Amino acid sequence: VCRAAAPNSHPSTMPVHYVTYKGIKFPPAYNSVHSLSFAHNEFLVRDDDVFNITYPKSGTVWMTEILSLIRSHGHPSWNQTVLNSDRMPWFSTRLGLEAALSYPSPRLLTCHLPRHIFPKSFSHSTAKVIYTLRDPRDVVVSYFYFCKMCNSYEDPVSFEQFLRDFLSGELPHGSWFEHVRGWMQMKDRENFFFITYEELKQDLQGSVRRLCHFLGQNLDDDAISSVVQNASFMAMRQNPMCSSILLPADIMDQTKGQFLRKGICGDWKNHFTVAQTETFNRIYLEKMRGLNVAFPWDRD
Ligand code: A3P
Repeated sequence: VCRAAAPNSHPSTMPVHYVTYKGIKFPPAYNSVHSLSFAHNEFLVRDDDVFNITYPKSGTVWMTEILSLIRSHGHPSWNQTVLNSDRMPWFSTRLGLEAALSYPSPRLLTCHLPRHIFPKSFSHSTAKVIYTLRDPRDVVVSYFYFCKMCNSYEDPVSFEQFLRDFLSGELPHGSWFEHVRGWMQMKDRENFFFITYEELKQDLQGSVRRLCHFLGQNLDDDAISSVVQNASFMAMRQNPMCSSILLPADIMDQTKGQFLRKGICGDWKNHFTVAQTETFNRIYLEKMRGLNVAFPWDRD
């Protein structure tokens, strides 16, 4: 969500005043009502655009690395020399919009926008969307630690309260449930591809092959192996162009944690109490009713 420059940043002691657009809160450092409204109403989607779309903490930056490596046929130099936010601009933010407008086609673009405030011009386009989802229990844990270190988010009072806010859709970027339901309405469209963080973890090579197929990009076995190798958790931690280490301390306080924190599935088991698990399960079933998609975490 952040990039190297630090407009409107503030020390961690100051309260965070979120930007609100269509009832959803957004972190103030890079968003404005104007940038969000422009993205929604005026941004012109091109037919050859490829969008990396996620709810926060679902594997956004991981997918950015994978997609840029695929675009480079496995050669890692682009990923190692250019910031991820310049390789796949956040077009709904103030700085990201500039980058998106001057990006030569075919563009790679990123956002956390829910479907209903995604650019209207997308409806009649053949632009491709890659939607990555993650076990919402791991999302909430990852989000909790991220908010502690990223100063454009309020410091969580407690995990209990943070989980309550997640379940009621009060966190920045809105409700996970509405995000997923909104985007998954597109699941049968040819230009829509969804994949889970859990599938990426379980079989990165197979996932990269499926992504290449969707994108119509032909990569040989060596190129695929290079994508897998350079998009590994350890390779990404060592790459300052995606590890967030270059972000200024008043945006991301590296003394309070690491952006590439654990990179595992199931960390929620170390955080949820039995009561929290029961509440979560009840609300999850209620809110996901009728969606008719089986996610890997539904087996738990
Ligand atoms: P954790 O906090 O659970 O470690 P996003 O990019 O959407 O903000 O998501 C960040 C989460 O994705 C973090 O989760 C981060 O560690 C994880 N992640 C990023 N790259 C990864 C990789 N190569 N392998 C596994 N997890 C990765």
